[in-house]
Amino acid sequence: MTNRTLNLDSTLYQYLLDVSLRETPLLKRLREETAQLSTARWQIAPEQGQFMALLVQLTGARRIVEVGTFTGYSAICMAQAMPEGGRLICCDIPGEYNATAEHYWRAAGLSGCIEQRLAPALQTLVELEAEGLAGSIDLLFIDADKANYLAYLEHALRLVRQGGLILFDNTLWSGRVLEQNPESDDTRAIQALNLALRDDPRIDLSLLPLGDGLSLCRKR
Ligand SMILES: C[S@@+](CC[C@H](N)C(=O)[O-])C[C@H]1O[C@@H](n2cnc3c(N)ncnc32)[C@H](O)[C@@H]1O
Repeated sequence: MTNRTLNLDSTLYQYLLDVSLRETPLLKRLREETAQLSTARWQIAPEQGQFMALLVQLTGARRIVEVGTFTGYSAICMAQAMPEGGRLICCDIPGEYNATAEHYWRAAGLSGCIEQRLAPALQTLVELEAEGLAGSIDLLFIDADKANYLAYLEHALRLVRQGGLILFDNTLWSGRVLEQNPESDDTRAIQALNLALRDDPRIDLSLLPLGDGLSLCRKR
């Protein structure tokens, strides 16, 4: 027994996967194809995808926005869990992986409920507000452009409805959040975000040690 979060070694991590992961054959194929890319580490962990799907089911989220889609793994996890009529807007920038995402969404029968918008996400989020979506989004997942994480928090708080969820990925940043004087803008931005989330009265918060750290915020 322990009264602190476990430090998982690789054997215990493998056990966790063995007894809980329910990845579909299609998601497994996508993960194996993505593993061939030099940027494979961008993809979320499969157990994180499964957790996010469960969150979508628990909350009945039907209007979801994702910032950072890559080859489409997290998008499939969330879209498959949405109720009938749900809509997922995926924000990314142009890259070869956009087509991979579209290919797997088609294969999963999800093309009709996922829309990919290819432009800097801060710009896309402004457009979503201009389209009248402020205060209507059930869940917004942010997994891109770390240096601007604090700006995404403000956009998210405008777009997400009261009681809706904002998820920030990589908030433990492979431990680099512990650096004293980080040179990386990304590291400094994640450190600043974590302190801002801790002190922000507009949200309820839990930082989960899942994947690379997932901050789960509920808009009050
Ligand atoms: C960590 S990956 C996302 C991984 C994805 N959630 C998954 O599970 O596979 C980050 C993605 O953000 C995209 N990106 C980087 N900067 C961006 C920006 N300013 N606006 C939108 N997307 C951006 C990259 O092209 C990349 O595909």
